[in-house]
Amino acid sequence: MDLLKQIIERAKTNKQRIVLPEGTEERTIKAADQLLGDGIADITLIGEPSKIKELVSKFELKNINKADILDPENYPQKQTYTNLLFELRKSKGMTIEQAAKLATDPLYIGCLMIKNGDADGEIAGAKNTTGDVLRPALQIIKTAPGISVVSGAFLMFTKTKEYGKDGLLLFADCAVTPDPTASQLAEIAVATGHTARALVGEEPRIAMLSFSTKGSAKHPMADKVIEATRLAKDIDPTLAIDGELQADAALVTSVASSKAPGSTVAGKANVLVFPNLEVGNIAYKLVQRLGGAEAVGPILQGMAAPVNDLSRGCSVSDIYNMVAIAANQAIAAKKQ
Ligand code: ACO
Repeated sequence: MDLLKQIIERAKTNKQRIVLPEGTEERTIKAADQLLGDGIADITLIGEPSKIKELVSKFELKNINKADILDPENYPQKQTYTNLLFELRKSKGMTIEQAAKLATDPLYIGCLMIKNGDADGEIAGAKNTTGDVLRPALQIIKTAPGISVVSGAFLMFTKTKEYGKDGLLLFADCAVTPDPTASQLAEIAVATGHTARALVGEEPRIAMLSFSTKGSAKHPMADKVIEATRLAKDIDPTLAIDGELQADAALVTSVASSKAPGSTVAGKANVLVFPNLEVGNIAYKLVQRLGGAEAVGPILQGMAAPVNDLSRGCSVSDIYNMVAIAANQAIAAKKQ
């Protein structure tokens, strides 16, 4: 987990402002207190101030006075954010009244802050579903230039040190796009490669996974992965990408040498791209639960600014780590 330490240190040296829309959620406010104490990020907590005060005193939090507190019912930028949301969504039929109502919803306010340049990233999902966290982000922040699809990657810290970078692999998409087309899958592969570069500090070797290796099976599902591999190489020729590969051919040198000889990725993949969300979501949970891996994510990628979703079963340290990751993504995005 040295990597997480590096991510935390990088966040400290170039402090970003991260907004936490679930500011009255217990784990979130405790994580905010630790983040502020450790100087990891500037924090905006969205929530009713009296409720925040109550939690600060209940948990004897010492650092929340360093946070900006935004009361969703009454804050200075409310009219600005209402107008911004209306302008962004009027072509989709949103009225100014609907915009005004949504400008009191913390999940919308968080995204509007980012869109207006008042925050660099957002973490939410300790008490809201993935869909509820993602929808305002997709509507307001939208995708990064040249990207049409958002996806979710996990840093998988496995116990199998012989794979990936001492057991660390990136898995995607495990969180967002249920049934990607070949071109969407290609974008997911490229975005995951870029996430690996931003966070892992090692050149990605991206395996496009399938039940077939190099034509061993003939099926439209394998054809989609072959086409996605071709498109991904076109999008970013600097990335090492290969497919279609079975998981064993992607990871195990001896299998790779017989099934995919000469591949620059097979047998040494550190990024696994799954053909659809069913596979990706099930795979990461199995590796986590049966294989004892630590799964950090989902790290949303392809968004114009970092918004990361939490599992509702998350711990205080999960929130702490995800804030540091969002800060790193924001730093990387500003360099591009
Ligand atoms: N990438 C980019 N934009 C997208 C994507 C995407 N993957 N999906 C939707 N959008 C955009 C749409 O184009 C639309 O934009 P517009 O309104 O400006 O035209 C906007 O987002 C809303 O789209 P809808 O289709 O109306 O939104 P929907 O209600 O389908 O929600 C969502 C999209 C939330 C991503 C949905 O696909 C979803 O729920 N995905 C699965 C999430 C999930 O449950 N994951 C598993 C759990 S997470 C875990 O276990 C870690």
